[in-house]
Amino acid sequence: MEPHPRLVALLGNPVRHSLSPRIQNAAFRASGVAGTYLALRTTEEDLPGLLGGIARSGGCGNVTLPHKESAARVVDRRTPAADRTGAVNTFWLADGRVHGDNTDVIGVRRALDALLTDHPAGLRDRHVLLIGAGGAARAVLAALEQAGVGSVRIRNRTAARARALVDEMAPFPMPVQVEDPDGLPSHPHDASRGAPLSLVINATRLGLDEDDALPLPVDELPSGAAVLDLVYRPGETRWVRGARAAGHPAADGGWMLVEQGMAAFERWWGIPAPRDVFLRELAAIRAEADRP
Ligand SMILES: NC(=O)c1ccc[n+]([C@@H]2O[C@H](COP(=O)([O-])OP(=O)(O)OC[C@H]3O[C@@H](n4cnc5c(N)ncnc54)[C@H](OP(=O)(O)O)[C@@H]3O)[C@@H](O)[C@H]2O)c1
Repeated sequence: MEPHPRLVALLGNPVRHSLSPRIQNAAFRASGVAGTYLALRTTEEDLPGLLGGIARSGGCGNVTLPHKESAARVVDRRTPAADRTGAVNTFWLADGRVHGDNTDVIGVRRALDALLTDHPAGLRDRHVLLIGAGGAARAVLAALEQAGVGSVRIRNRTAARARALVDEMAPFPMPVQVEDPDGLPSHPHDASRGAPLSLVINATRLGLDEDDALPLPVDELPSGAAVLDLVYRPGETRWVRGARAAGHPAADGGWMLVEQGMAAFERWWGIPAPRDVFLRELAAIRAEADRP
């Protein structure tokens, strides 16, 4: 007899544009696990009941905007990544308790490792410009501190939000400074002052639309700096295309999407995720979106 399929739910609002149902369902089929991934538009009030109820009735799932921080308060056990970021994007039941992880952290870490694969020193000791201070920026900061980067400068449209983020997550093992709105670091005595930036990361939503302003003009990228855009679009973002044309190693958020999804799959099913299926599905979605 076929086992009952397990409900794997994506809780967020909105959820209709998410690529996860298609990619995860393809991975479930290819791996022979009995699961159905469904996106459920979820209000703030419904989140605790839905998340706990789904997990305790044998299901599991993902959490997306705007509920990742609420989910961190709802679960019984948080992984170190969920604790560090105060955000949960993956939940499941184990030993009668609801567990929560933030696989965006390992997703961004692996995306950066892939981007810097030809650079023997990798991330260690790099000086980083992080643009953005929302939920994704928290995961980036957690990944950068794990990797032992040299320093981080944060630039955000709303500088006060960036300062609040740093105050909340401090202390860090590396110097972290927030730029004032005029682009100057607000802590002029910081140890990293003057160090050349060698990695620039976009963690804003700029680039979701083709005619969005660029997170940073391509001609202002530091010479030779690597570029990671968390945003993904069919045909890549304009920023990534421009950076690569100017000779910078550059990648968009597709790789992170695959890596965070694979890590979630492994939490739910306890078996390795089929990377080839994740990559193939993402490529198929992009090819379809590119068709006129
Ligand atoms: N590839 C992946 O797997 C992955 C995973 C997670 C997130 N992401 C992407 O990362 C991006 C950020 O997500 P999030 O969860 O951090 O969102 P969020 O919490 O809503 O934060 C949005 C960020 O974008 C900035 N922003 C929004 N509109 C802007 C504008 N017009 N000009 C300049 N800055 C603007 C915000 O600045 P203010 O503070 O000034 O509002 C803030 O820094 C999204 O595009 C998301 O798709 C990708």
